[in-house]
Amino acid sequence: MASSSSSDSSMSAEVPAPYGNGPAEVAAPPSETPKKAVSRIRTHHLQQAKTNGERFAMLTAYEQYSAEIFDQAGIEVLLVGDSASNNVFGNETSLPVTVDELLPLCRAVSRSAKRALVVADLPFGSYEVSPQQGVATGVRFLKEGLAHAVKIEGGKFYAETVKAMVQAGIPVMAHIGFTPQSEHSLGGYRVQGRGDDAARLIEDAAALADAGAFCILMEMVPAETAAAVDAAVQVPTIGIGAGNVTTGQVLVWQDMAGLRGGKMAKFVKQYADLRTVLSDAARAYGDDVRSGQFPGPEHSF
Ligand code: KIV
Repeated sequence: MASSSSSDSSMSAEVPAPYGNGPAEVAAPPSETPKKAVSRIRTHHLQQAKTNGERFAMLTAYEQYSAEIFDQAGIEVLLVGDSASNNVFGNETSLPVTVDELLPLCRAVSRSAKRALVVADLPFGSYEVSPQQGVATGVRFLKEGLAHAVKIEGGKFYAETVKAMVQAGIPVMAHIGFTPQSEHSLGGYRVQGRGDDAARLIEDAAALADAGAFCILMEMVPAETAAAVDAAVQVPTIGIGAGNVTTGQVLVWQDMAGLRGGKMAKFVKQYADLRTVLSDAARAYGDDVRSGQFPGPEHSF
């Protein structure tokens, strides 16, 4: 899938809405019509990417500047992940983060991303009780968080929840394989879907796609299993530690950009060393303040 900096040849354009401020959906232009850049990535563009054998990128984002930068860099999907629990709020796992904590982060990301599809994670405990609870929480993320879609973790057990949410107008991304909200019941961070267990993931993915999920995200799954899941469903798949066969890839942005310290998972590739950049900047600033170099005359009134 082309980024915003190129001509987006694979995606159909939108026209201004007949009312209000938002763009309206239109049918794809006839093939002889030159295609325009996509103003907003929609779920159907991700589907189109799978159909056309193209790829798209997803990153987490939790606030204004990262969202703005990734959006302008052409990242197609921004995930307001419940990984904010570990990466923003300082928890050890994703379990403690609440709906009320995630909603303002989601609003900030949605306001800042002009082109990306913004997907919000439903936190642990906010959809498990019943399909109705899933619908109620999903509505909050679209209405108060300004998200365009939500993501829930879990297998075929959640097919009814997905169905109810989709019927209520909430696009749902399904997250299978290793699901961090279940880390205690899964016995820690463990690869899922090895050997005979692949059949379970294929069944989960098929049930969730049949229920209306627009995309299946797989975490920590052998590449071979991910390929089998991808082949079993029509909808696009996204991988994190799931090899190179999925339509999309996702990483937590602080891992991708080297902001987080400590040991990285095998599936992480670091594209920058922001931790060193920030640390050097903070040390230089501290030294300048202590030595009286800052503020200089050019910074004074
Ligand atoms: O919350 C998150 O960051 C996620 C990714 C691991 C996909 O769910």
